[in-house]
Amino acid sequence: MFLKLMQAVLNYLEQNKARFLEALCDYVRFPSVSAQPAHRGDMAACAEWLVAHCKKIGLEARLCPTAGHPVVVAKTPRAAHSAKPPFLVYGHYDVQPAEPFELWKSPPFEPRIEGRSLFARGASDNKGQNMAHFNAIEAYLATQTPLPCDVTFIIEGEEEVGSKSLDDFLPAHRDELRCRAVVISDTGMPGLDYPALTYALRGISAVEITLHGPSRDLHSGIYGGSVDNPALALSQLLARLRDNNGRVAIPGFYDGVVALSARERKQMARFPMTAAAYRKSVGVPRLFGERGYSFIEQRSARPTVEINGLTSGYQGEGSKTIIPAWARAKLTFRLVPNQDPERIAKLVLKHLKKICPPTVRLEAAAGHGAEPYLVSPDGALARAGLATLKEAFGREPILMREGGSIPIVTQFQKVLRADSLLLGLALPDDNAHSPNEKFNLDCYEKGARMSALLWQKLGIGN
Ligand code: BES
Ligand code: MN
Repeated sequence: MFLKLMQAVLNYLEQNKARFLEALCDYVRFPSVSAQPAHRGDMAACAEWLVAHCKKIGLEARLCPTAGHPVVVAKTPRAAHSAKPPFLVYGHYDVQPAEPFELWKSPPFEPRIEGRSLFARGASDNKGQNMAHFNAIEAYLATQTPLPCDVTFIIEGEEEVGSKSLDDFLPAHRDELRCRAVVISDTGMPGLDYPALTYALRGISAVEITLHGPSRDLHSGIYGGSVDNPALALSQLLARLRDNNGRVAIPGFYDGVVALSARERKQMARFPMTAAAYRKSVGVPRLFGERGYSFIEQRSARPTVEINGLTSGYQGEGSKTIIPAWARAKLTFRLVPNQDPERIAKLVLKHLKKICPPTVRLEAAAGHGAEPYLVSPDGALARAGLATLKEAFGREPILMREGGSIPIVTQFQKVLRADSLLLGLALPDDNAHSPNEKFNLDCYEKGARMSALLWQKLGIGN
């Protein structure tokens, strides 16, 4: 009986592949860039499209305005007998800026299919991954196959800028969003043959600093040598944030950092990629990272400092001989248990004030932040996830920690008391946040199968 019922769902997924692809193409056509005010209208249009899509497939959906970008909430029609709270599926419809445009082989918001890849900004992060879950639920509803549990989708528009509005939304909708656990596909897997369950994410702390020099750009011949150059002063300041062993050189930064267990290090050593292949995939002449750790450990389980943007002086063609009036850097620190984003931001600001030379004026402010996340990979939720991955991909899944951040997951724990099951569908070469982002159509299709099978596993136990 069970197999026969599921067969209808799986057949539906198989038979409607072309339509699912079209829907994803429609979804990625919205330039839903949350960071850029010029795209405010596109954000709203994308959220409205999503609500309409949810309604079309049979969900009860609504658009929830916030102080920032709207949140979309969509629920399976509640089965009369369903006594237990639902599961949440979380995703985000916002995307990273597509700049630099000239490096895209085709325009970022005009989906292009080549082989088994769909190219577009947001294809992998996160529209394709979250659509896979919609497709699975659509298959249940369209074939009138009873869902073993209720499912509530919560798709937000500010994940890429720190999830501030959803953070406010959660406590205000605590009762409505009461759930057994959260399911999220917004992480990666090492390859199509390596489905993965992620049990930890890094946190983040963002800081923006500007060094102000002369009251205007000055002639560098007339003034150079007697007035400090903010771009140089900033370079020297930034260079002092990291030592030659690849460690963050801010006093107190490593306080409370939990060391990696022998078990975890053993697990990470099994990650199916060599350092050489990794080096090649990113195109650097040599890898760099904290001494004493493998590249897998460095990029997922150790804290870091990064400069995300650096601006000063003349950026146009040819030369212009000036001392710039100011120089700015956008910094983020990736955090691991038990680093606290606010404490780290304070430490950083204090340290910068201390080492800033008196020849420039420092303006520094903390931006968004997120706590690191880590759950046991041995619990019932993880076990159901691993069994589902095995069934959907036909391969033994692996456990991994990821270096990226999903700011809201720790709020799900605090506000809803719910853990997140992270079942990522992104491949290492998906170019998330880079030009030519893509999503693999096998991941899309297998991801929908995974989601369909998951509700059977989760609905019965857990
Ligand atoms: N999907 C990513 C997070 C991610 C990427 C997790 C790779 C694991 C592996 C998410 O959309 C993202 O990019 N988050 C931002 C959050 C930040 C802006 C607060 C990130 O990690 O930079
Ligand atoms: Mn992202």
